[in-house]
Amino acid sequence: MSKYHVNEKGYYGPFGGAYVPEMLYPNVEELQQKYLAIMQEESFQKEFHDLLKDYVGRPSPLYHAKRFSEKYGVNIFLKREDLNHTGAHKINNTIGQILLAERLGKKRIIAETGAGQHGVATATVCALKGLECVVYMGEVDIQRQAPNVARMKMMGASVVAAQSGSKTLKDATNEALRDWINNPVDTHYIIGSVVGPHPYPDLVARFQSIISQETKRQLIEKTGRSNPDYVLACVGGGSNAAGMFYHFLDEEDVKLIAIEAAGHGVHSGESAATTALGKDGVLHGSRSILMQTEDGQVIEPYSISAGLDYPGIGPQHAWLFRSGRGQYVSITDDEAMQAGLLLTKLEGIIPAIESSHALAYLEKMSFKGDENVVICLSGRGDKDLDNYMKYFGF
Ligand SMILES: Cc1ncc(COP(=O)(O)O)c(C=O)c1O
Repeated sequence: MSKYHVNEKGYYGPFGGAYVPEMLYPNVEELQQKYLAIMQEESFQKEFHDLLKDYVGRPSPLYHAKRFSEKYGVNIFLKREDLNHTGAHKINNTIGQILLAERLGKKRIIAETGAGQHGVATATVCALKGLECVVYMGEVDIQRQAPNVARMKMMGASVVAAQSGSKTLKDATNEALRDWINNPVDTHYIIGSVVGPHPYPDLVARFQSIISQETKRQLIEKTGRSNPDYVLACVGGGSNAAGMFYHFLDEEDVKLIAIEAAGHGVHSGESAATTALGKDGVLHGSRSILMQTEDGQVIEPYSISAGLDYPGIGPQHAWLFRSGRGQYVSITDDEAMQAGLLLTKLEGIIPAIESSHALAYLEKMSFKGDENVVICLSGRGDKDLDNYMKYFGF
C-alpha cells in the first residue's frame, strides 16, 4: 500500500486512528480484525460484484459531456453515479457493508444520513436482506430532504430525528454512535462516508473504489489513456471523492481536486469549508481536520446541500490535503446552484446539489484545451427539486 493509504495502525500520516469509548472497543476491534479477510473471501467478492451489476446497475457510464466540454474548452467526462439504483454513489458502500454485517452475524442495522441518500441506500439493502433498520437524521435535513424520508419509511426503516446542535449530519452521527454504544452486540453501524474510527474510512473507501476502477478502464476505451489530467469530486465526509481518487492516488501526474461547500462564503460564518477553516482534532472517532473554536468546540457547519453540511472530512482527505497530494477548494451555495442549472440546460442532466459543487469549480480552472477532466457526478437531483425550485423560483 502506498503512503496515501491507511497503515497497519489505522493511520494516514498523523490522521485516523480509533478514538472510541470503551463500550465500543469490542465492536470496532472485531471489525478491524475481520474486515479485510471477509472482503477478500471469494464468495463475498462474487456476491458484492453480482449485486453491483444486477441490482445497482454497474458499471456506471463514463459520459463525454460534449456541450459542457465545449463551454469550458476541455474534454469533460462525467462518472455517472447518479444513474445507480437509489440515485447516488452511497449504494456501493451499503451493499458492501450489509454483506459484511451478515457475515458478522448482525441482525440490526443503524445509519446516519444527511442528504438522505445514505439513509435510503441503507434502508434499501436492509429491505433486500430482511434486516431491521434505524436511520438517524437531523431534524433540519428531514425537512429539506422530504422525498428521501418517505423512501426510507416505505422500505420499512425507522427514521429518528436528531434534535441537537444544528440538527444536521454531525448531530445524526452523534445519535447513531450513541445507539451503537447502547446496542453493541446485535447491531452493525453502516457509516455512510470515509469517516469514523478505523477501519471505517478504509473499508468505505475500498467499497467506493469501484468508481475509479471502472473509470480507468472506461478512459482507455474513450481516450486511449487510463489516466486523465484532472479528477474532481465534492467532499462532505469524502466517500465519493475517496472512491473517485482511489486508483489514481499513486499516479502523481493526475491532479486530484476536492471541492468542499463554502455555503454563504468561506468567511461568512455560514460554511462547511473544513480545510480552509479547520484545525486538527478528533471528531466521530478519528483524528482529522475539523471546524472548531479556540477551545475545541465543534463549529456548526452550513451548506445548502445537506450532504456537504459537515464540519469535518475523513482522515485520508486530511492527509491528502496536508501532504499536498490533493488540492482542496470550496464553492459557495450560489456558485453550485448556477452550475447545477447549467449542466441541466446543456446536457439534460439534473445533478444533486452536492455534485453541483464539483461542477462549479470548472469556472475557476483554466485549460490548454486537450486535457481530459473526470468529474464524479455523485448523485441525481431528484431529491433536490424542491430546493432548485425555491432558489430559481420555477
Ligand atoms: C449525491 C451526494 N454526493 C455527495 C455526498 C457527500 O458525501 P461524501 O463526501 O461521503 O461523498 C452526498 C451525501 O449525502 C450525496 O448524497
